[in-house]
Amino acid sequence: MTQDNSVLIVSDRPQIAALLCRAVENVVACRCIEPREALPATLPLVAVVDVSGDPRLAATWIARFHGFRIASLQLTNQAPATRGRAAVATRTLPADAPRTTVLATLFALVDTWQAARRSAVAAPVRKVRDIAERARAAVGLVAGAFQAAGTGRPLSAEEIDTGTELILEAVSDSGIRTWLDVIQSHDQQLYQHSLSVAGYAAAFGAGLRLARADQKRLARAALLHDVGKAKIPLAILNKPGCLTDEEMAVMRTHPVVGADLLAAQGGFDEATLGVVRYHHEMLDGSGYPDGLKGAAIPDLVRLVTICDIHSALTERRPYRDPLPHAEAYALMQGMLPRLDADLLGAFRRVVLQGVLDDAVA
Ligand SMILES: [Fe+2]
Ligand SMILES: [Fe+2]
Repeated sequence: MTQDNSVLIVSDRPQIAALLCRAVENVVACRCIEPREALPATLPLVAVVDVSGDPRLAATWIARFHGFRIASLQLTNQAPATRGRAAVATRTLPADAPRTTVLATLFALVDTWQAARRSAVAAPVRKVRDIAERARAAVGLVAGAFQAAGTGRPLSAEEIDTGTELILEAVSDSGIRTWLDVIQSHDQQLYQHSLSVAGYAAAFGAGLRLARADQKRLARAALLHDVGKAKIPLAILNKPGCLTDEEMAVMRTHPVVGADLLAAQGGFDEATLGVVRYHHEMLDGSGYPDGLKGAAIPDLVRLVTICDIHSALTERRPYRDPLPHAEAYALMQGMLPRLDADLLGAFRRVVLQGVLDDAVA
């Protein structure tokens, strides 16, 4: 995502926002959107959050701007949505503050952040650039690995390792929400899905305080879990509708195809091969390809399965809109006892805490 010098006003008071926007435009470019709209592809320098009708939605927007290290001014008569992180300026004014006060506060923020942006060592701006660059690099590495798998060439274990490290660092520095926002702009759905599942896995591993080597093993396995899809015909993989029974049978070969492919190449440990082969297994034996049950399904697989399902439900598909995080999670709770109840609870606590109220995407 790129960033320009503009101001973005997110407001549920269109008339007041339009007047404010006109005044701001005398000094700096300004855009207005409603709270349910998506974040523009070009990030602003400073944001105004004026969402009095829905405090949760206001909090979501503030958190999102924090994630991108964008300074924000919240107009509210309630308690501010969140505390500012050290690296991000956040101001709060009453919703009915005089427009001159709002403009003075806003322009002070713009001045500060324009200066920061001009500076070569502007850490907040550099962070945004860093995560976008990491995402671009990770996409390139994942694309290379999947293309190699699709054409029968060996995958580079070194490149997979580098991609995994990039994801671990990006999620650790900026959080899962920012990672998801950044990779959303990549339109190759299989790569985006792999990066998203790996991002969730990175956040899950860190949240569970796994040893660093185990966090890496988990994220790496998540990155590769669908590698077998590189061998599925594109007409089936990208079909914009329901699959026929025959097509579904082909699609369901991807765990075995992927595990066989990595095993034949060598250099991938049993745990990774297990994740690739078993990530569609369910604890009650209703999954595939082997109908494994309970204790036969390793923890590493259970972790990736949860990340995989949540990621798939919240991704856009040609035939359906993404589910909001809360709905996706509720649906997964309805899947118990097919999923690991303890791990699902932990997933909510350590991964989704910050994104569960994300009703904006
Ligand atoms: Fe899969
Ligand atoms: Fe998947």
